[in-house]
Amino acid sequence: MRKPLVAGNWKMHGSRVDNAALVRGLLDALKSESTAEVLLCPPYVYLWETGRLIKDSDIELGAQNVCAETQGAFTGEVSAAMLRDVGCRYVLVGHSERRQIYGETDTLVARKFVAAQSQKLTPVLCVGETLDEREGGRTVDVVTRQIDAILAVSGVAALASAVIAYEPVWAIGTGRNASPEQAQEVHGMVRGKVAALDATIGASVRILYGGSVKASNARDLFSMPDIDGGLVGGASLKAEEFARICAAADH
Ligand code: 13P
Repeated sequence: MRKPLVAGNWKMHGSRVDNAALVRGLLDALKSESTAEVLLCPPYVYLWETGRLIKDSDIELGAQNVCAETQGAFTGEVSAAMLRDVGCRYVLVGHSERRQIYGETDTLVARKFVAAQSQKLTPVLCVGETLDEREGGRTVDVVTRQIDAILAVSGVAALASAVIAYEPVWAIGTGRNASPEQAQEVHGMVRGKVAALDATIGASVRILYGGSVKASNARDLFSMPDIDGGLVGGASLKAEEFARICAAADH
């Protein structure tokens, strides 16, 4: 049985004061009997302090990005070892905003994936098509290409300690989520692809859905057979709402 995972990607939001209030609200609102794993991904500068705020809870800490290099003259970058050092267990790689706004290629994302695993961070590999790509019937091609870039470098065995997040770009921050059926179609395809290479990893790898997840649609999305939780942006900034999404992931 795959343990559901609900991750909050705060993106570039928050402040020390707001984060403290958000985490406090979340700790109050999360059900103690919850079976889902909960992960928070604050901006780099708030990682340490957020880690302190959640240290007596089961909530995990993750980063939104990582440098592909190990150390050295890379001004403005943050290494996987540094993320590990401040308490991260997870890191997002290949978020569509990184790919689209900052020009991250499949090759660079694969290097970041390797860098994360080299420090025992679990990469959350984000994949997903744009609206143009979906309307052009290229969803499967795009998602396959994004996953193949990782498989080519790391092999299927690496997916045993990774998470995949399907985030259709057209659903991110738009209020227009993929329908449970649309998401399931892609999730099923991804799981089938991994299972064809390794049946055990195919059955165990967690595949999250992201893109306008809200308390009102989470249960329907998470009830699909191949959707193992969510990667949540805007709704993760509201404690009550995010806690309700986490509860929707409970078995
Ligand atoms: P929204 O939930 O705000 O659509 O963002 C999704 C996302 O990009 C999470 O990584």
